[in-house]
Amino acid sequence: MRGLEQIPWLYDLGLSVAERFGFIRWRRWLAEGATGRTLDLGTGTGRNLAWFAATGPVAAVDPSHHNLRAARSRAPGAVLVLARAEALPFRDGAFDTVVSGLVFCSVDDPAAGFAEVRRVLARGGSLRMIEHVRSTSTLGGWWQDLIQPAWTWVAGGCRNNRETERSVAEAGFEIEPATRKASGTMRRFVARAIPSPSEQLERVPAGPGRA
Ligand SMILES: C[S@@+](CC[C@H](N)C(=O)[O-])C[C@H]1O[C@@H](n2cnc3c(N)ncnc32)[C@H](O)[C@@H]1O
Repeated sequence: MRGLEQIPWLYDLGLSVAERFGFIRWRRWLAEGATGRTLDLGTGTGRNLAWFAATGPVAAVDPSHHNLRAARSRAPGAVLVLARAEALPFRDGAFDTVVSGLVFCSVDDPAAGFAEVRRVLARGGSLRMIEHVRSTSTLGGWWQDLIQPAWTWVAGGCRNNRETERSVAEAGFEIEPATRKASGTMRRFVARAIPSPSEQLERVPAGPGRA
């Protein structure tokens, strides 16, 4: 059963209205800040693709071939790959920027997805995200929980009540406070992977008395 996210014309109709009412500023922030080799995760119908500044090659992945077909007509030269966040077909450190616009609400296994994002990001690389998240108010959260099953069914997999910023932190990323913006249940931010203890040790320069 396809939901809104897998019906390109319907998704584009909804998003073009949202962009007209201000969401375009969020999308431009998301895409225009990407630098170097860039992965557009969950590209959908490819609405980010026109906004990437050409500072490096761009690859885009999505698990829906309907969406990729729409993205292809929007960006004929783009590298499009049928894949999921949880199993990215790229080598370690292949990208300088991973862009995720409204995707982790739909990823079935966010922890596995963030682990893959971490793996494919080069050292010092950035994860740029826009996401809608669980309401911080008790009543808002209760309402989101109540409608979540119907919402997920209609949208085609989106969970409206996820605490995605917490998942980002649990996956070993640090959100840069200066980049973070919150508006209602919308969030945008840049996050970078916190080096693991072994990665930190690799950075200690060899010097006198060190092997
Ligand atoms: C709300 S749409 C966002 C599309 C696009 N990023 C945008 O900003 O318009 C969510 C997208 O995530 C994709 N998606 C769902 N599960 C995914 C997964 N496990 N890995 C990657 N993308 C996924 C869907 O196919 C859909 O295209």
